Amino acid sequence: MKQVFLICGARPNFMKVAPIIQQLKVRNKITPILVHTGQHYDHAMSDRFFEELGIPTPDYHLGVGSGTHSVQTAKIMTSFEEICIKNRPDLVLVVGDVNSTLAATLVAKKMGISCAHVEAGLRSNDWNMPEEINRRVTDSITDLFFVTEAEGEANLLREGVDPSHICFAGNVMIDTLVNQIEKAKSVSAYKSYGLKENSFALLTLHRPSNVDDPMVLKGLLGALTNISKKIPILFPIHPRTKQKIAELDEKFQFIEAVENNQTNLTSGIITTPPLSYIDMLSCQCTAAMILTDSGGIQEESTFLGKPCITLRHNTERPITVTEGTNVVVGTDPVKIQEMANLVLSGKWKKGQRPRGWDGHAALRIAERLESFLQIA
Ligand code: UD1
Repeated sequence: MKQVFLICGARPNFMKVAPIIQQLKVRNKITPILVHTGQHYDHAMSDRFFEELGIPTPDYHLGVGSGTHSVQTAKIMTSFEEICIKNRPDLVLVVGDVNSTLAATLVAKKMGISCAHVEAGLRSNDWNMPEEINRRVTDSITDLFFVTEAEGEANLLREGVDPSHICFAGNVMIDTLVNQIEKAKSVSAYKSYGLKENSFALLTLHRPSNVDDPMVLKGLLGALTNISKKIPILFPIHPRTKQKIAELDEKFQFIEAVENNQTNLTSGIITTPPLSYIDMLSCQCTAAMILTDSGGIQEESTFLGKPCITLRHNTERPITVTEGTNVVVGTDPVKIQEMANLVLSGKWKKGQRPRGWDGHAALRIAERLESFLQIA
């Protein structure tokens, strides 16, 4: 049977590989081999997602850990090449836009192994984002492109990709959401933080452009502190954000809890360590609004019809704005507060679910992989 290596490494990858590996196993025409690069390694950022989403134990774990972009990318390449030499696959499938995505594609392509990219064609056109570099380089050498929205296809065609190599798969991350939503609705995670349904805001923040620059980070936290006087904010903190907040010269009320990796219930901003997939989805379902700089959460909030204030200057997922509930607001503290007030006044747009965000993207991916690999 033909073998496909599925690559995952960082938190947002896990919910994308879960339905694909499940679909390949059910169809039993391709052997999926799961490779975890180890880019994310904390239990809360990695293993917990495997347990919750029923992802099998990886066949290979590269254990690369953190480092500068070059060190991390190089370590993944060196280890992944060794595996490809020992057990050459028929195709390498990567998802998303993280360093693991780029590193694995480079290795495969240099070895003459076909590559498929799930979530291809997304463009922020912001070269300061490490993810934009990863997307562009990955797509410049990929053989088979699975796109989530029409703009992704248009971008690839503009860049000269052969249309017959593009497959409109829809959004595979939404497959996982659809599979898990009933479970998420049953847990009411907000209750453990003393919150009430539809009466809190959910916040995530981890983009280097937001957290690495102290002025930007202080501006954001100031705006959020003001918003939290009107509506409590639940803030699960990413490890890099935790580090950056701890380094600030200005101390925010919740800082001690952040440093001790504890839940803080004493100020308007309730901080917690990173949430599990189910708890995060539960909180997205029950929040009154979402404030985020994540790509995936912009998409999940659009699917759920929740108001989403994106704390960035651009998005590579424009359908969440044109059809969904997302507004790209930037990092101006005044503007952010205005937008939160708009949600609180009940005047936010409604939005609709984009085409192909229907829980069947993994099936379309599996079928196209079979035809690409000429499996009858
Ligand atoms: C990575 C992705 C980003 C994605 C994000 C989701 C790239 C370029 N970036 O960013 O696109 O949105 O994952 O989380 O690939 N750390 C831990 N434990 C972990 C992982 C990280 O403590 O399990 C800390 C380390 O100090 C590390 C820092 O977080 O240096 C950043 O981790 P890294 O994987 O380099 O990038 P992310 O910011 O997580």
